[in-house]
Amino acid sequence: MKRKLIPFVVLSLFGVLTSCGGNAGVANKEKPLVFFNRQPSDPTTGEIDMKTMNFSDKTYYVGFDAAGGGAVQGKLITDYLKTADLAKLDRNKDGKIGYVLCIGDVGHNDSKARTQGIREALGTWNGDTNPTTRKEGKVKVGDKEVPVVELEAKAMTGNDGSTWNATAATEAMGTWATQYGDQIDLVISNNDGMAMGCLQASNYPTGVPIFGYDANYDAVAAIGQGKLTGTVSQNVDAQATATLQVIRNLLDGKDPVKYGITEATADGSKISAELEYRADTKALLAKNSAVTKANYQQYAEGGRDTGIKQSTAEKKKVLLTIYNSADNFLSSSYVPALKYYAPLLNIDLNIVQGDGQNEASCLDKFTNLDQYDGYAVNMVKTNSGTNYTDKLKY
Ligand code: BGC
Repeated sequence: MKRKLIPFVVLSLFGVLTSCGGNAGVANKEKPLVFFNRQPSDPTTGEIDMKTMNFSDKTYYVGFDAAGGGAVQGKLITDYLKTADLAKLDRNKDGKIGYVLCIGDVGHNDSKARTQGIREALGTWNGDTNPTTRKEGKVKVGDKEVPVVELEAKAMTGNDGSTWNATAATEAMGTWATQYGDQIDLVISNNDGMAMGCLQASNYPTGVPIFGYDANYDAVAAIGQGKLTGTVSQNVDAQATATLQVIRNLLDGKDPVKYGITEATADGSKISAELEYRADTKALLAKNSAVTKANYQQYAEGGRDTGIKQSTAEKKKVLLTIYNSADNFLSSSYVPALKYYAPLLNIDLNIVQGDGQNEASCLDKFTNLDQYDGYAVNMVKTNSGTNYTDKLKY
């Protein structure tokens, strides 16, 4: 019995010595750097910022298929309309479908893709994602083809300058309901936070169909209660796990975009959902799926990926930034997922959060970099990539 204790003690001590993190001797620029949720890109053209992505061979992006997601949201809406009753939907009986659109952030790829997907599906797409660029479209409601008008689209920027702002959406919806009255037949939003914000308006036109994006738990519950008509899941569990797994893989010398992602780890762990790797932009992307009353229960709170098993790999320390502590999707969906999966992946995660408007609110907390084995970055502005890589140059 006693003799067996010695190797145990030696092994435990070895474990302690090797699990301290800090990666002594490794320059910060050699450590893994994963951008997530806000893809380094030009806010106007949407072009991917490859200078940032090529900072090192350990720099990656984890997100979801933004363009595909826009198309899924568009189809969600047209599928709904196909089975809708025009007499009920067209509230003022003018033979037209009028909708209002909440835009999240005019300089964010995800937001642009959704605006485009919605407008393309409804025929109102007129070449760019600006709030005022649109044309009259046509869509099938039941078996009739009817004209569609985008009454107004607005970027929901808060008084403090933060984007994707749910309170701004509540205010805008209040104004729209007064201004457009029963011309509004549909309400569409680039995310759930703003859609739920619209529903908060005291004069929200009862029963008007409303669509969001993200499948946040409160939004999924609202679908169950018949308040929200539909949303799109961008598979937050797959994204949060992948963000951490890519960092782990780069530290453990495994294939960064396959191990635990498309193939099982030695511990038998693998993300259940499918992710696609796009080598040209170094982007690992989750898939989107439509959520409606017919399937919302599959997306209800508490459903975690049981494919993720406890890792026995050495513990690593990761610093992770969140652009806005008040962002609905990040705070109610992404951060809880990160907190659930990090211990399973043996990652000691330090999450620091910004204010959604000043890059400095995140950069000021992107410090003590030598103490970490890797970094995960969610920028305030999509063109701020080099502010982070500049801090890691040494
Ligand atoms: C989400 C939004 C969120 C934004 C933040 C998007 O992918 O759908 O809800 O506000 O990311 O970057």
